[in-house]
This record gives sequence, structure tokens and C-alpha cells, in this order.
Amino acid sequence: MARILTGIQSTGRPHLGNILGAIKPGIELSKDPENEALFFIADLHSLTTIKDDKERRENTLASAAAWLAFGFDTDKNIFYRQSQIPEVCELTWYLNCYTPYPMLANAHSFKDKSDRLSDVNGGLFTYPVLMAADILMYDANYVPVGKDQQQHLEITRDIASTFNNRYGETFVIPEAKIDKTVMTIPGTDGNKMSKSYNNTIDVFQPQKQLRKKVMSIVTDSTPLEKPKNPDTCNVFALYKLLANDEQITEMRTNYEGGNYGYGDAKQALFELIIGQMEQERETFDYYMENTPELIKKLEKGEAKAREIGLKVLARVKEKIGF
Ligand code: ADP
Ligand code: TRP
Repeated sequence: MARILTGIQSTGRPHLGNILGAIKPGIELSKDPENEALFFIADLHSLTTIKDDKERRENTLASAAAWLAFGFDTDKNIFYRQSQIPEVCELTWYLNCYTPYPMLANAHSFKDKSDRLSDVNGGLFTYPVLMAADILMYDANYVPVGKDQQQHLEITRDIASTFNNRYGETFVIPEAKIDKTVMTIPGTDGNKMSKSYNNTIDVFQPQKQLRKKVMSIVTDSTPLEKPKNPDTCNVFALYKLLANDEQITEMRTNYEGGNYGYGDAKQALFELIIGQMEQERETFDYYMENTPELIKKLEKGEAKAREIGLKVLARVKEKIGF
């Protein structure tokens, strides 16, 4: 049996990048009867950037509802909020003491965030160590993530190997699972879609707002009648990720033939999202309106996660002499 583990920060509402880059591929892996999946909401990580309590609560519920909307089976697998197994913070401290300072100082995500954010706090700096604890505390074998998380997985593997070399087999060395066909989903401005760049498409929004967002995707100024290059267009890039082969070929022909505006392509993308995700949008709304039901599912997973985590933690404490 392989143990698959991944988390999504509750720093905002889950978006198309999270769905295509993490939620859908993760759920596919979780369906394999040979796999056991631990999927969690990284609400402790969200504290590095979000300080508002109400916002965190809402984002945490929305992230959880997104997993359920896309069909995550919480009976077969383990679904939880990171903060509800607070011993992960204890493990983080231990791992911190085996993490060389330069490894954290050189992490891309820290450099990127410390350049961009005004609140550069200690949590942001040790973020990868908490992530390592998330993974190592549950003996995870595979971690499905987007390409942007690759370095964090390398840091996790480094920390685990250093520890194992010093104390003997303690941690399972995890492997990142990066879906090459998805890679980085572009946002409405063409950069990586991310909650931190305000360029996300929230597919769970009411239709009117969702349409407005799709219509805001940045394109060049080629006039309507002129042929357009689909391969440099943000709208086409997103369309391609959702459409079937026949729809993609047809859209390509529309672009290359001229007399097809970016507005038409955006409308087609909007309709594709609405058409494809009707059921998911409904399930999402259902759980957001019935949060006690959602929380019950999480609590069930939290009990199971804690049981696994405490065993690994006991193993670590024994090794280091506590
Ligand atoms: P964000 O960048 O919006 O804060 P997170 O860091 O919470 O997103 O990412 C949660 C998961 O979704 C991770 O596995 C991450 O790699 C994946 N992910 C986020 N944005 C994208 C994207 N634009 N393309 C592909 N995967 C993404
Ligand atoms: N850092 C991840 C991200 O921003 C979220 C995350 C936290 C995570 N802990 C994890 C992902 C453990 C995989 C495994 O996307």
C-alpha cells in the first residue's frame, strides 16, 4: 500500500490552478484501492500570510468543500485540518533543529515572498520545515503537488535523510508526484495562477462573477477580423486544459481563421467551465450551506490522522532521547 499525502493552504478560496494542479490529480490517485490518501487543509501554513480569523475559517471550509465537490471519498481516505493535529508543531521544532539555515535562506518561495510581502515573519522562513513535518509525520510515500512545490519536497527529503543517517531508519523518504501534463496553470494575467497574485479563477463563484473574471483574462490587441495565435493566448491555454480534443481543434481553427474575437473565446471558456462543473458547483454550495456536515467529515479524519501521527512522533522522540 502506498500512502499519498497533500495539502492546500487556506489562504483564499480554492481556484482552477488548485483544482487542476492538486485536487483532481490527487483524487485520481486516491481512488486506487492500493493507495491510502491523506489530504488536508494547511491552515497553520495560512497563518504565515493571513491574520484575519474570519477569513481563515471561511477559507478553510471552502478548501474542504472543494475536495468534497470533486469527489474525495472521506470514508476510504483521511481528510483533516492541519491545525487539529497540533503535534505537527512539535515535530516541526525537532526538524527545525536538523535544518541548516542556508537551506531555508535559499528557498525560492521564501525569497519570492520576502520580496513581495510587507509582513516577512519567522513563520514564512520556517514554512518548508512545517511542510516537511506535515509529510514525515504520516509516513507519506508520494506527495502530489504542482511544480512550484518541488523544492519544498527536496528540502523534506534532505531533512529526512539527514535524520535517518544520524539515527537510523526513522522517516519514510517521500517522493514528489508532479503531473507533467498539468504543470503550472496560468492565471487571468498569464502568470502562475495563485491566490497571492489576485489572478485566480474561482469556479465556485456565482455565474455572473465567474463570467466577469473569465472576461478579464488578459489578451493582446489583435483586431477581431485578424487571425490569432492560440499558442500565445491565455484564454486558449486555459481552454485547452478543460476541453476535449475535438473542441480544442475547433477552437484552434477559430483562432487561426480570423473573425473570431477574444470575447467569443472567453465566452466559450466560461460555458465550458459552467457545463463541466455543474455538479461540483452544486456540491460545493451544499457543503458551504451545511458546514456541520462538512466539519463532521473532517473530525472523523482528524482522529485517524492523529493516530498515525502520534506513532511516528513517538518514534522520533525515542530516537532523539526524549
Ligand atoms: P496558491 O499559489 O494559490 O496559494 P497553494 O500554494 O495553496 O496555491 O497550492 C495548493 C496546491 O495547488 C499545490 O499543490 C500547488 O502546487 C497547486 N497549485 C497552485 N497553483 C497552481 C497553478 N497555478 N498551477 C498548478 N498547480 C497549482
Ligand atoms: N506548501 C503547499 C503549497 O503552498 C501546501 C502544503 C503544506 C503542502 N503542507 C504540505 C503540500 C504538505 C503537500 C504536502 O501548495
